[in-house]
Amino acid sequence: MSMVFVVLGLIACGGGEAPPVAPEVKPEIKVEEKAPEPPKAVEKVDLAAMPEADRNAWLMKKGQEVYETGGSGGLACTTCHQPDGKGLAGTFPPLAGQKDLMGDCVRHAGFVVHGLMGEIVVDGAKYNGAMPAQNVLTDDEIAAVISFERNSFGNTFGYCMPSDVATARTSPAPTIAAPAP
Ligand code: HEC
Repeated sequence: MSMVFVVLGLIACGGGEAPPVAPEVKPEIKVEEKAPEPPKAVEKVDLAAMPEADRNAWLMKKGQEVYETGGSGGLACTTCHQPDGKGLAGTFPPLAGQKDLMGDCVRHAGFVVHGLMGEIVVDGAKYNGAMPAQNVLTDDEIAAVISFERNSFGNTFGYCMPSDVATARTSPAPTIAAPAP
């Protein structure tokens, strides 16, 4: 459209006069200020009041979502620990088969709440990475994601509650033995 306009304009004003300046149609460039993303709505549930079967089902469903997406603002666990929970040899430790590390709910939640750094041995393999603390997640979300880990990848380590996560938040960060020198 605008091309036609301009061409006609030129033909019509071939003479000496300065051609009328076609109205400049500047594309409006909107520099959108990116507002900080509002925190995603966090589903409110009363896990303690739910019948056990419903609660476990909720924990598994929500836990898988957090594992795969990072929930309301955390990192997706699957990126590092992998969809099969087996981690990546030498880089990210496995969650599959880690009953000693994850058997206790408060300890397990502690790794998520506080993160983990430094040399460790898991299944006889050394790791020296950093797991960023995921304490932005809610107690419900962390209870869910650890319950999911404890009952996926061949694990059957039972379920955890938001109160375990609350305890982990106020407890010292758990550690894993460093490799023997
Ligand atoms: C950026 C990569 C990364 C992400 C994302 C991540 N982790 Fe980790 N995680 C690690 C690393 C690395 C370690 C070991 C740290 C070390 O070497 O000291 C670890 C250790 C752990 C451990 C203890 C060791 C074991 O094998 O059991 C648990 C449990 C764990 N992560 C759970 C989670 C959960 C749950 C999430 C998601 C909420 C998550 N991680 C997200 C990298 C990650």
